[in-house]
Amino acid sequence: MVIFMSRYFGVDYYPEHWPRERWEEDARLMEKMGIGLVRMAEFAWAQLEPAAGVYDFDWLDEAIAILARHNIRTILGTPTAAPPAWLIQMYPESLPMDKSGVRQSFGGRHHCCHSNPALRRRVRLLVTAMAKHYGHCKDVIGWQIDNELGNSHDELCFCPSCTDAFQTWLTNKYGDIQTLNAAWGTAFWSQKYDDFSQIPAPMLNVTAHNPSLLLDWRRFCSDLIVHFQHAQAEILREHCHDQFLTHNMMGYADKVNYFHLARDLDFVSQDQYPYYQEDGKTFRNMENLSSALELIRGTKQKNFWVMEQQAGPAGWQCFGPTPAPGQLYLWTCHSIAHGADTVLWFRWRTCTFGTEQYWHGILPHNGTPGRRYRELQRAISDLTPVMEKIQGLGSGAEAAILYSYDQNGALKIQPCHPSLEYRQQVQILYGGLYRRNVMVDFIPESVDFTSYKLLIAPLLTLVTPELCDRLKDYVHEGGTLLLTARSGVHDETGKCISDGDLPHGLSSLCGLIVEDYSTIYDGPVSINWTDRGIFHGSYFCDRIVPDGCRTLACYDNGPFAQTPALTMNTFGKGCVFYLGTFLEQTGSDILAEILLAASGVESVGDAPDGVELCMRIGPDGDYIFVLNHTKHTVPYTPPADWTPLLHAESGLAPYGVHIYLRPHDVSF
Ligand code: GLA
Ligand code: ZN
Repeated sequence: MVIFMSRYFGVDYYPEHWPRERWEEDARLMEKMGIGLVRMAEFAWAQLEPAAGVYDFDWLDEAIAILARHNIRTILGTPTAAPPAWLIQMYPESLPMDKSGVRQSFGGRHHCCHSNPALRRRVRLLVTAMAKHYGHCKDVIGWQIDNELGNSHDELCFCPSCTDAFQTWLTNKYGDIQTLNAAWGTAFWSQKYDDFSQIPAPMLNVTAHNPSLLLDWRRFCSDLIVHFQHAQAEILREHCHDQFLTHNMMGYADKVNYFHLARDLDFVSQDQYPYYQEDGKTFRNMENLSSALELIRGTKQKNFWVMEQQAGPAGWQCFGPTPAPGQLYLWTCHSIAHGADTVLWFRWRTCTFGTEQYWHGILPHNGTPGRRYRELQRAISDLTPVMEKIQGLGSGAEAAILYSYDQNGALKIQPCHPSLEYRQQVQILYGGLYRRNVMVDFIPESVDFTSYKLLIAPLLTLVTPELCDRLKDYVHEGGTLLLTARSGVHDETGKCISDGDLPHGLSSLCGLIVEDYSTIYDGPVSINWTDRGIFHGSYFCDRIVPDGCRTLACYDNGPFAQTPALTMNTFGKGCVFYLGTFLEQTGSDILAEILLAASGVESVGDAPDGVELCMRIGPDGDYIFVLNHTKHTVPYTPPADWTPLLHAESGLAPYGVHIYLRPHDVSF
């Protein structure tokens, strides 16, 4: 029998959940399936350090060795997301404190305060011991630091240690207390501070905290987590020279600024669950999942791994539907199409105990290979030759979305309208491009965006003069920019800007003044888009007074009926569009069409509804993924010059995937 091992596919494996006698059989079944990688130990603190300072690595050594004999290499997680009971008993103050000052209890995971000195010391000792022990182990190829940092907390921690750390963070940022008072506007409600030691963590109080304090608190909490990871990264870098560092991120999760978290890592990883149940909601929307992958790719502007790819029905108390035949295969291809260079499925075998006994793995509870095993075995053997060719190949995107954790944070603190959400607006604008099969990069404000033909900056609420200048230069040199309502409202501390006109710093670029604005509560306003139809604007609308720009569409009703809703201004060699409201799907589709025409950005190709086209560009051609997200057979015939690489039969099977190579134009 030919055994097809792949170094691009793996599983998350928990030997500590199974008797030792089973490990050999697991390794054999993995090898037979083609699995070449496992991630282990990311929650095994209690097994690796059963008592303070007593380390037991024997069992893990044995598991690594068994897997290695079956040609499977290991990624080790540092188990710091699950501090054991002895540690909590020794240092009860390392439990996180909630907003009302109550300590959370032991018994989930991430039940720790990330600034607590005792916890930090224990983490340092454990990670050092692991790094020394495994740093030279040839079967260990890399490390995942902690697990989903920023998960499991509604808020982080409000304990005295975190409050101290916040005050120190503020001291470093502002230098002296007068500067902070001015930056936050503490003249309001007598909130002037005489000393940094008076500044509270934003715990439960009788009314709302100062939004500038809340914004800095969000930044501080993110930095705290970034530092928690950094402390481990330093140790691992010191002892583990040929092993990579990564972390498993959670798409749009927003407690940690992933652009910052990514800096200490060789590459980032994503946990990708297309279809699961949580809090009574079933999550499933391929468009959102696509954009989450663009964001993950954007955190380092390079390809990533999927460290946990859904492998079965998923949920804790309730669980989502069983993925239909072909869906696990499709979702794997979907991650790869968006830039995953390696995929590990979560998890190998479904656990028989604990919170996740319904979060199904490849193998069912009884450990017998079944449909999921066979489907993913086929995925490994089909996709490995493609993976070989596309390692490191990028998206070739000509369009980008400026994504910002600060803008998201500011809007969460003061959304203006209760339904106005940053992430949702990002996705609506992304959706227009997605449905036209346009590749999009998500980039932070700090990177050079001049190489993109089209730049979308949703809800650019906080601005600095420097950012405004860069946007002007970008358009001046030929870029196409989209700005929306609520642009240029605040400075970076969250205070409203008062000199000049809205959108502050951007009004001359847009060729307009926002003279007035209104929230919208009585249903959306209609927008009359000359010869394109009527669309809807929600939540908010600006009263735009043109000052050189051209009006593309006007409100038909609402508080500012017959005034501009969408404008375009030419500026230097480029142009800027300003949207004075927030669109729904159809409106965003039309807007996308206009933006693509203005910028010259091209789509990957045409596809029927429910079919996504995605590409990765290589030196000799573009690798095109055709992904049928529907449960129906869909007719699909590619252009004649595309070379089929995978499943090129005419028509796409339900949840089917085709892969093609489209040659680059060769010009002589
Ligand atoms: C996350 C975690 C895993 C597991 C799965 C399923 O992605 O990283 O440890 O908990 O969710 O809940
Ligand atoms: Zn704390």
